[in-house]
Amino acid sequence: MKVKKAIIPAAGLGTRFLPATKAVPKEMLNIVDKPALQYIVEEVVASGIEEILIITTRNKEMIQNHFDKSFELEIKLGQAGKTEMLNEMVRISDMADIHYVRQKEPKGLGHAVGCARTFVGDEPFAVLLGDDIVYSQGKPCLRQLVEVYEKYGDSVLGVQTVPHEETSKYGIIAGEKIGDRTYRVTYMIEKPNPKEAPSDMAILGRYVLDADIFEIIRNTPKGKGGEIQLTDAMKILLKSHRMIAYDFIGRRYDTGNKQGYLEATVEYALRHPGVKDGFGEYLKSLV
Ligand code: G1P
Repeated sequence: MKVKKAIIPAAGLGTRFLPATKAVPKEMLNIVDKPALQYIVEEVVASGIEEILIITTRNKEMIQNHFDKSFELEIKLGQAGKTEMLNEMVRISDMADIHYVRQKEPKGLGHAVGCARTFVGDEPFAVLLGDDIVYSQGKPCLRQLVEVYEKYGDSVLGVQTVPHEETSKYGIIAGEKIGDRTYRVTYMIEKPNPKEAPSDMAILGRYVLDADIFEIIRNTPKGKGGEIQLTDAMKILLKSHRMIAYDFIGRRYDTGNKQGYLEATVEYALRHPGVKDGFGEYLKSLV
C-alpha cells in the first residue's frame, strides 16, 4: 500500500523552552524566516505526501492560522506590488491539505499518535516529530523512509547513531543489518540509561507505521514519565510484525533544546540565499 498520509504531533507543552513557549507554541518558533513546523510540512510535501494531520492542543491556534489563507495580507501585498512575498504566502496556504485534531490531555506521544486513528484508517502512515528537523541535500528524510517501506512492506523507523551518553534522551533500537543502512529491529526501549542501552542507534522523529499500531496504543500502559509512549507501543507491534530501522542520510537538529535550536538557526542561515553572505561574514568577524 502507498503511504499517503502523514501525522505531525504538535501537542507538547514545550516546557524545555519556557518562557519563549509560554504563549507561542514551540512548533512556531522561528528558524531564520519560517517556523520550525513549516520545515517539517515542507519535508512531507517534498516526500510526495499531501494529506497531513497536525495533532494540536488548546492554545495552539497560531499553527492553524499560519497554514491558513490570509486574504487581507494577500490583498495588501498585491496592492503594494510585493509579488515575491505574495507568492510565498499563497504557497504556504496551498502547500498541502492540512487537517487538525486536538489531543485533549497531555498523555504522551503514543496517545497523541492514537488521536490520528480516524484520519488514518487502515493505511500505513508517516509520523514526523516537530522537534526533529532534518536537512538533506538529496532525498528528504521521509522520502528515504517511504522508499524503504515500499521495498520491504514493513514499518520503518528513522535512526541515527547518537553519543552513547545520550541514549537516555531517545528511543533506542537493537537490530541486525539486512542491507545498506538497513536493519531488522530486534528490540527497542524508550530512553534507557547508557548502561541499559542495547546500541547507540536512536529513533529520531521519523516513522512509517502499520495501522495496527492504533489498536496496540489503546492498550499500551503508561511508561517513561507516566506517559503512553510510542516506543512502548511499537515494541508490542514488533512481537507480531517485522520492523525495519533505516539509518537515514541528513543532518538532524534537535530543535527542542536550546543548543540544537541555535545550531539549526546558524546553519540554516548559512544556507539561506538572502542571508548567508552577510551572516557568514558576521560569524567570521566574531570568531
Ligand atoms: C520522542 C520519542 C523518542 C525519540 C525522540 C526523538 O521523545 O519518545 O523515542 O527518540 O522523540 O526526538 P521526546 O524527545 O519527545 O521526549
